[in-house]
Amino acid sequence: EDPDAELAVVSLPSYACQRHTPLQHHNKGLIGALSILAENAELSENEGRGVAFRRAAALLKSLPQEIGRAGQLRGLPCLGDHSLRVIKEVLEDGGCREVEATKESEQFKAMKALTGIFGVGPKTADRWFREGIHTPSDLQRSGHTLNRAQQAGLQHYDDLNLPVTKAEADAICLIVERAVGEVLPGAEITLIGGFRRGKQTGHDVDFLITHPEEGREEGLMVKVVSWLEAQGLLLYQKTTRNSYLEGKDGPARPPSNMDRFERCFSIFRLSAEQLRRTTHSTTDPSSRVNTDLHTVPPQSALRRSDSSAQMDGQVRVESSVWSQGSGSRSWRAVRLDLVVSPYSQFAFALLGWTGSKLFERELRRWAVHERAMTLSSHTLYDSRQKLYLRAGSEQEIFALLGLEYIPPCGRNA
Ligand code: GTP
Ligand code: MN
Ligand code: MN
Repeated sequence: EDPDAELAVVSLPSYACQRHTPLQHHNKGLIGALSILAENAELSENEGRGVAFRRAAALLKSLPQEIGRAGQLRGLPCLGDHSLRVIKEVLEDGGCREVEATKESEQFKAMKALTGIFGVGPKTADRWFREGIHTPSDLQRSGHTLNRAQQAGLQHYDDLNLPVTKAEADAICLIVERAVGEVLPGAEITLIGGFRRGKQTGHDVDFLITHPEEGREEGLMVKVVSWLEAQGLLLYQKTTRNSYLEGKDGPARPPSNMDRFERCFSIFRLSAEQLRRTTHSTTDPSSRVNTDLHTVPPQSALRRSDSSAQMDGQVRVESSVWSQGSGSRSWRAVRLDLVVSPYSQFAFALLGWTGSKLFERELRRWAVHERAMTLSSHTLYDSRQKLYLRAGSEQEIFALLGLEYIPPCGRNA
């Protein structure tokens, strides 16, 4: 392969929602460097700078081949001066000083560690950092009063910072499905977020719940959450009735729909037994995969330990998460997000909660700047015609926006 070859791509459109951005891409080093700077900007609450680096990284993710030299980038959109400088340095020197300095900076490391606590955002983390608190242990020792979310976050810190596997998401899906079926027969549940985009791991599991008869979904969240709590499956939960007016992402919704959109941020207690049951019912035992403790293969967080299985007839659960230290664990904590949407808004909720975050931002930016429309997870408002546009599928929403349909696996911007 000739690194000096000009890119086959003549041009790429500038909005991420106009391009396919696959999960697997060809410029990991460059994207890694830009992502560190994006993360640092976000942790410093410099949103504009963060978005600029994210857009540049997303552009590189949508390229069909590896970049060998900066000349190949000529004519491509989304690459600002700063991003280009970083890219050139990585290509020429194999690394970028600003990126390395950021990675090693005490502030960056502390902000990452502290915002890694569920319930802690950059503002709080920054305040603590300036008080000399750099780690979760520092925080624990400090005697600071923490809210309920932060207490739970600190308590389950290690678990919540371990990636959630697809197998774990599937196990939780079965349980939430059961909860939903028990409290409201006919209700439907859809896996959203990163897993819907084809990711094999995530930082949480996201589900969207609805019922085909409009209105039946009202009060559903409280019932589902109560059912899960009664089974001892939630370690923490906060349920909010999302008033549209409070949202930053759209116009006021018609008063009749005012408090129908509900969401729940929770921490789920996933037992090894629940995971084992799902994995055994969904995977072919002949295709059993052996893994070491650090590399969990796609689709399977589990490995059967044949010797112990033969000895005591039991299956041991082993993966980086499930076997720690001497014994295997009987459960782990997993972040779980639930959203309930009325059927009439389902397509908008599905599109709005599938992500990625940058893809969503780009869709809304496209809508406003190119179509004079306002897109939210509830509706699409056309400000020229002064009316709300309805849609029954994601395909229809893309069409209303004048965009080619991008399937979830192409939304990994
Ligand atoms: P991982 O969980 O790390 O795999 O990535 P993810 O893409 O699933 O991210 P996350 O679970 O944080 O969010 C999933 C989707 O929900 C993203 O598209 C977000 O834009 C969207 N989302 C998260 N919070 C909100 C919110 O408060 N309002 C709305 N409307 N959407 C949100
Ligand atoms: Mn997610
Ligand atoms: Mn989420």
